[in-house]
Amino acid sequence: MNVLINAGPTRESIDPVRFISNRSTGKMGYAIAEAALKLGHAVTLVSGPVSLAAPEGLARFVRIESAAEMAEAMKQAMPGADLIVLCAAVADYRPVVCSSSKIKKGEGRLILELERTEDIALSLGKRKRAGQILVGFAAETDDLESNALRKMREKNFDWIAANEVGKPGRGFASDNNALTLYAADGRRFNLELKPKKVLAGELLSLILNPL
Ligand code: C5P
Repeated sequence: MNVLINAGPTRESIDPVRFISNRSTGKMGYAIAEAALKLGHAVTLVSGPVSLAAPEGLARFVRIESAAEMAEAMKQAMPGADLIVLCAAVADYRPVVCSSSKIKKGEGRLILELERTEDIALSLGKRKRAGQILVGFAAETDDLESNALRKMREKNFDWIAANEVGKPGRGFASDNNALTLYAADGRRFNLELKPKKVLAGELLSLILNPL
């Protein structure tokens, strides 16, 4: 099976030395890539800037910085993929202009104008063909289940893995996580707090070997 995964944050440039980003470390996406490799799948990993080493044995490893570059790489790789897992924490907004020279500080406030980036999941959901499995993630601080189910519907996901962020010992930057995995057909699975590497294997086996 050809598996396409995105992971990590994106960086949206303000000027040549500054950017807007988030706390994603890529650990969950890289763990899923490793679990898919162990199962013998051909894995393409599209990654934002993270400090993790690329797993050994990838079919393709694409490093990107911005949401626009991530969108381009994912659209290019999507047609050949059987399973697509969207783990990346794509920035929702980027500066309207990226200054070509370093912005000098002044006395008063500086106002940055931001515009929406492309919702990559939404774009891929529209392009999904029969037989492709599209899996999204939802990190929420409130109303986890209703938000996750709405995102799955809006973005045409087959599965969504929802995790609560802001709780200690899990989520962003942690080695552990707890997830609820929802299927578009109504099934749900609770995966208790455990190492992301273990969680990744369980998630793939639920998605690939439905009961
Ligand atoms: O809407 P929200 O960002 O919470 O949805 C999360 C899901 O959408 C994740 O799978 C994430 O990778 C994806 N996403 C995306 N492009 C964006 C924002 C989110 O692909 N611009």
